[in-house]
Amino acid sequence: MHTTNIPKYSAPAKFFHWVTVLLLVIQYTIGWLMPDIGRDTQPVGLISWHLSIGALIVLLVLARFMWRWKQHPPPAQQMLSPLLNRIARATHWLLYLLLIAFPLMGWANASSRGWPVSLFGVLPLPALSSKGSQLGHALGDVHQLFAWVLIAMVALHIAGALYHHFIVKDDTLRRMLLNR
Ligand code: HEM
Ligand code: HEM
Repeated sequence: MHTTNIPKYSAPAKFFHWVTVLLLVIQYTIGWLMPDIGRDTQPVGLISWHLSIGALIVLLVLARFMWRWKQHPPPAQQMLSPLLNRIARATHWLLYLLLIAFPLMGWANASSRGWPVSLFGVLPLPALSSKGSQLGHALGDVHQLFAWVLIAMVALHIAGALYHHFIVKDDTLRRMLLNR
């Protein structure tokens, strides 16, 4: 069980996985610390960081998704049962979907407020809705709600990883770790 030549995730897969986790931790912290947003709020300070890091996350996950889809399948799975395997795979695809759709809602909300979105003020990005857009306004509420949906999915995902590692005692977690 503790062999070093287990099939493991490739370096790019690990890079994408752990950079995404790191950016999400930073992004949630900023999301909760930034001031409440009202009609006259300006996108400065923490809010400006939230827009840039959020945009970076979407672009990174889009790149990750295109890299992963079809060309780079994961290493062979450690079968627990066909049902649990299917739940794990479904969770992974749902995580990808959420990681793309949910930031885009925040982006559409920013655009509906007339806030320009860019990567750290260096690379301007297009608006996703027109200023004053009702849809963009509504998607802001969905964005707040989905912040919790993503957390719930991630909690399920982490529970799965820890279950493999500490209860089943297989190599599922080990093959995603950076020191392997
Ligand atoms: C995966 C990336 C993201 C995460 C984890 C995230 C997380 C959050 C969180 C936790 C909040 C606070 C919710 C609350 O107060 O209850 C929030 C609000 C907000 N986020 Fe994000 N966000 C992400 C991406 C983005 C992006 C890309 C944008 C825009 C470019 C954005 C724009 C906003 C805006 C405008 C609000 C305030 C919504 C409102 O109060 O109406 N977010 N986000
Ligand atoms: C923000 C948090 C996280 C997100 C969004 C996330 C997302 C993902 C995604 C999408 C995959 C599928 C990779 C692929 O095959 O393409 C994956 C795999 C994996 N993640 Fe995470 N992850 C997160 C946190 C964690 C944490 C904290 C752990 C460890 C406790 C972890 C352990 C794993 C493991 C072991 C795999 C491989 C599972 C398998 O292929 O059976 N993840 N993760």
